Amino acid sequence: MTSDATFWDQTAEKYAASPIKDQAAYEHTLVETKKHLRPGDRLLEIGCGTGATALLLADAVAHITATDISANMIKIGRGKAATQQVTNVDFVQATPADPKLAAQTFDAITGFNILHLLPDLEGDLAALSERLKPGGLLISKTPCLADWKWRAIGRLAIPIMQFFGKAPYVSFLKGSDVEAHITAAGFEVIMADNHNAFSRFIVAKKT
Ligand SMILES: C[S@@+](CC[C@H](N)C(=O)[O-])C[C@H]1O[C@@H](n2cnc3c(N)ncnc32)[C@H](O)[C@@H]1O
Repeated sequence: MTSDATFWDQTAEKYAASPIKDQAAYEHTLVETKKHLRPGDRLLEIGCGTGATALLLADAVAHITATDISANMIKIGRGKAATQQVTNVDFVQATPADPKLAAQTFDAITGFNILHLLPDLEGDLAALSERLKPGGLLISKTPCLADWKWRAIGRLAIPIMQFFGKAPYVSFLKGSDVEAHITAAGFEVIMADNHNAFSRFIVAKKT
């Protein structure tokens, strides 16, 4: 078995080179996310990968701290920011509950394709609530594998892939499970919608 950081480090180059699977859904998510951001916002992104989304959201806010568990993802993100001359995105290798984030609070937190990858989702959501200012927003999109039409195959195949280091930790959540976890962490869900067959887009406000 491989640790998740190692898995994602090994995946980073390939991930950076992979095309977006559903461009229309991706662009819809960007538009819906931007509706909830303000020019003066300081934003934290968790599980930012190689920074593609942070760099596209950079002109909608004052500053983005883009974080990821993988040093290789962060390195690629920094390179892209330099190439694109984006100066208001800082890349930091960190998990959601990392103490190195504890000194700061943010107006909004984004997390795309990440909540299903967190082994301690409850603990991480509680830590993220701590990182938000009162009334701050958590904006997420999560593949909900328990709502996926191939979930039965996934439940068999993924543990085998994990055993051989070919898949990271993944939880099989329904959209309603993600909403329940977010609510339990002290947020009010203010909008929720499916952005493709099984990806749940959720905007929640810290109460
Ligand atoms: C499926 S990719 C999504 C990347 C990007 N958000 C996107 O939508 O393209 C998941 C990312 O989450 C990161 N990740 C996985 N587990 C993590 C954890 N526990 N804490 C922080 N990042 C994590 C991985 O390194 C990877 O970059």
